[in-house]
Amino acid sequence: MNQKIFIKTFGCQMNEYDSNRIYDTVKQIGYVKTNVYEEADCYLLNTCHIRDKAKEKVYHEIGRVKKIFRLKKKPLVIITGCVAQAENEEILKREPYVDLIIGPQSYHKINDTILNYLDKNQKIEETEFDTVSKFEYLSKIKNDSNKISSFLTIQEGCDKFCNFCVVPFTRGPEYSRPFYQILKEAKNLVDNGTKEITLLGQNVNAYNFDGLRLSDLILEIEKLPGINRIRYTTSHPNDMTDDLIEVYKVSKKIMPLVHLPVQSGSDKVLGLMNRKHNIKTYLNILKKLKMTNSNIEFSSDFIIAYPGETEQDFEDTLKLVKEIKFINSFSFIYSPRPGTVASKLKTLDKMQSLFRLQTIQKALFKNQIEKNKSLENQIVSVLVEARNGDNTKLFGRSEHMTSVLFDGYDNLIGKVVKVKVLKSNQNTLFGTLTDLTHQKVA
Ligand code: SAH
Ligand code: SF4
Ligand code: F3S
Repeated sequence: MNQKIFIKTFGCQMNEYDSNRIYDTVKQIGYVKTNVYEEADCYLLNTCHIRDKAKEKVYHEIGRVKKIFRLKKKPLVIITGCVAQAENEEILKREPYVDLIIGPQSYHKINDTILNYLDKNQKIEETEFDTVSKFEYLSKIKNDSNKISSFLTIQEGCDKFCNFCVVPFTRGPEYSRPFYQILKEAKNLVDNGTKEITLLGQNVNAYNFDGLRLSDLILEIEKLPGINRIRYTTSHPNDMTDDLIEVYKVSKKIMPLVHLPVQSGSDKVLGLMNRKHNIKTYLNILKKLKMTNSNIEFSSDFIIAYPGETEQDFEDTLKLVKEIKFINSFSFIYSPRPGTVASKLKTLDKMQSLFRLQTIQKALFKNQIEKNKSLENQIVSVLVEARNGDNTKLFGRSEHMTSVLFDGYDNLIGKVVKVKVLKSNQNTLFGTLTDLTHQKVA
């Protein structure tokens, strides 16, 4: 079979990782990737269900594909990811253009499902939670990422059941991949040229394989010759154990940006959300981390206008943002999700919600602008990833994940270099190499 596949990905980094692994898999039955819709024999949409908008994008996107292929042969249309899991058969009913539905824990079945469809023309949905088989199967297929910065899923699913969240339903129960299976994949990535690995999981710091924790993994992965940087996301405050905090003292490769979603600055709202932590315990973790390594910066996720959030609760969140000076954070208006406890609660007024979101984002952006401004005339360490979009500059990231642009030769791609920051804006640092022999544009 010699067919072209177009893969479009929505949602979080785990979906990005999954899309790459799906491609590694379908390559085995003869698919080759295309970035041109019109060329595709197979169109695969890897979806996200976290907020209603994310879900609606899926149906818009299918509408778009239908239009593009109106006068052509219909491609095989596959829906994967969290919408596939949450809506399964409903998708086939709502959108007969779709042929196959494959949930996030069934990707090991994708080749058989496709071949069966091509043979028998039978629509099917595969949405069982079979995480162990999935990772066993995938670990036998080479992770072909040859990126400077690669993702590696180590844990999947969630047992925490925050009242607003679909993840426990779409990704299933918490599962930690075998320690040595992960090390093997990490080694393979580094052998392929990866310099930075971001370990992924919906509750990545809950990782526990026969007592081996995330801290053990980081300290083992950093021994791989050639690796420069290690990151992990997303963490829950309750799993930020002392061994992981200690990593920030002993590890040479862990990056000093801790993404720790807090969701709200009000204990009352945290209770209503069933987050199982309060602000005091959260602040205590940040304090411990900062004491372990003073270079650490924090980023977070916030849900604004959760049912029951009063003006005072919102002010508490705003106060926390101003106090901690989080950088690179995400904030969202609460979106009711079917099947969750909070979906039955009365939502706040739309205009009021939007106003609160804008207020919090203004404060978050201010932190970011000020942080970046404070780096002007300072030297930052940058892992060079590629040329920027218009090819004029090199693009890399600082230790705190901020984008950095500067002039330099292509042979710096994959290296960690020192850049003096000359200018900055909210999202980017603009600088010059401190070692001027590399400075000319290639
Ligand atoms: N496991 C992580 C978060 C995973 S979901 C944690 O425990 O924090 C990523 C982010 O999406 C969440 O941090 C939350 O801020 C946001 N989110 C999840 N459900 C949402 C909803 N129903 N409405 C709005 N934002 C939501
Ligand atoms: Fe969702 Fe994270 Fe809560 Fe799990 S811990 S339910 S993934 S927000
Ligand atoms: Fe979305 Fe599923 Fe990730 S709901 S955020 S793609 S875990």
